[in-house]
Amino acid sequence: MSDLKTYLADRCTYVDAVLDRLIPSTETAPTTIHKAMRHSVFAGGKRLRPILCLAAAEASGGSKESAAFAACAVECLHTYSLIHDDLPSMDNDDFRRGVPTCHKVYGDGIAVLAGDALQALAFEILVKTPITHRYHAGDLVLELARTAGSLHLVGGQVADLEGEGKKLPLEALRFIHENKTAALLTTSLKLGGMSADCDATQLQALHDFGMATGLAFQIIDDILDVTQTSEKLGKSAGKDLASDKSTYPALIGLEASRDEAHRLTQLAHDSLSVFGHHGKRLRELADYLLARDY
Ligand code: IPE
Ligand code: IPE
Ligand code: MG
Ligand code: MG
Ligand code: MG
Repeated sequence: MSDLKTYLADRCTYVDAVLDRLIPSTETAPTTIHKAMRHSVFAGGKRLRPILCLAAAEASGGSKESAAFAACAVECLHTYSLIHDDLPSMDNDDFRRGVPTCHKVYGDGIAVLAGDALQALAFEILVKTPITHRYHAGDLVLELARTAGSLHLVGGQVADLEGEGKKLPLEALRFIHENKTAALLTTSLKLGGMSADCDATQLQALHDFGMATGLAFQIIDDILDVTQTSEKLGKSAGKDLASDKSTYPALIGLEASRDEAHRLTQLAHDSLSVFGHHGKRLRELADYLLARDY
């Protein structure tokens, strides 16, 4: 296995073990909600946001342990956003992470509540992060709360829903992608940096890296939706066309979308100069996200 593959597998195992300790067991009452939460969290996501969080902490001179709670918090928040994204009143998807969606197994009501509970749990977990010289729990909570709210993740999802059936200008699509997706990727990196007591210059670099990588990430998601099979993706392919969503391939074509993702990844690389050789892993991760095929 390549060094990066080993790193990804190791960090994935680490994050899963901590998540397993933090999410109430399936025997904890009310058992249905904990089964539903665990169904979606442990269905086998790629854990990219927690891995970016840990890598940002390591690039900033911290350890994976310093960022463990922040990493688990962003994964809980992300999984909540997926559960709600898949609901019949949103993207209406039957498969996610290779298994039936939360609402398909537990019904819409429990799926809404599993998302709600995972969002609350994300903040409960985040405040366990040890304080550092520069940051206290309130700074981390503010960072995640802003990103999760109506100005970013939720705002992007609203614009995505309201854009269905319309051919949006590229500027409007970029707004959607930056907010529904790039914002949480960026916050994952920044929380990792903050848990390692990064300075203001490093925090800004992580922000710039996250916004560029995050937009590239959603462009690749749009590309994979038209070029990959459902089996490979673990979620239903071809959904964007079927739902008449504006996407990068729909607006500018596959070739130009790939070029844009490459351009953004180069921008992401450039933003890491302040980290010197400590930014190596983050650069590798940006390349990995660009080259991914699921
Ligand atoms: C899917 O994210 C939702 C998007 C923002 C495109 P991922 O592709 O990271 O999904 P998982 O976590 O691996 O399931
Ligand atoms: C989802 O974007 C972004 C979220 C905030 C969950 P998509 O709707 O494109 O994600 P997939 O393709 O269903 O994973
Ligand atoms: Mg969606
Ligand atoms: Mg969706
Ligand atoms: Mg998609």
